[in-house]
Amino acid sequence: MAKLQILEYPDPRLRTVAAQVDEVTDKTRTLIDDMLETMYAAPGIGLAATQVNVHQRVLVADVSDDGSQPLALINPEIIESEGDAWSDEGCLSVPDIYEKVARAEYIKVKALDRNGKSMLMEAEGLLAVCIQHEMDHLEGKLFVDYLSELKRQRIRKKIEKARKNATESPVPITVAGDHPDRL
Ligand code: NI
Repeated sequence: MAKLQILEYPDPRLRTVAAQVDEVTDKTRTLIDDMLETMYAAPGIGLAATQVNVHQRVLVADVSDDGSQPLALINPEIIESEGDAWSDEGCLSVPDIYEKVARAEYIKVKALDRNGKSMLMEAEGLLAVCIQHEMDHLEGKLFVDYLSELKRQRIRKKIEKARKNATESPVPITVAGDHPDRL
């Protein structure tokens, strides 16, 4: 397995719309394994192929506390959704930014699993938020797109500043306080 590099906002490649996976092969499974390794190492609870510059409709997630429930969805489609829920979201491609976003509370998803088998799954709560967030990535969409332009500008400035500081000093930037998981 290999750890992959995660693209960061505002990298234009994050705006690419991912292509349908026509055939699930060993190459797809290697991508999934590499994405899971990258997600766990980050650490995060979800990752879309778009974020590692592979523009195919593949996402991984694991919302368990101990990393024991890896999930991989290929060509995911939401076929049913219900309810509205606001929660704080973060993203591995938008470091150290957390903002409230509204999502469906419950979703039913159709996808292929890592063996290319068709599957149906239901999700609610954090997993539902995570899948919707990752599916947005496959459309070239980021959670900051739901915020106002003013907020987005502030976020871009904050990220630029953090990046500048990171190159100027070898001391890693640590974030104080508890934050929600990154998706
Ligand atoms: Ni994300």
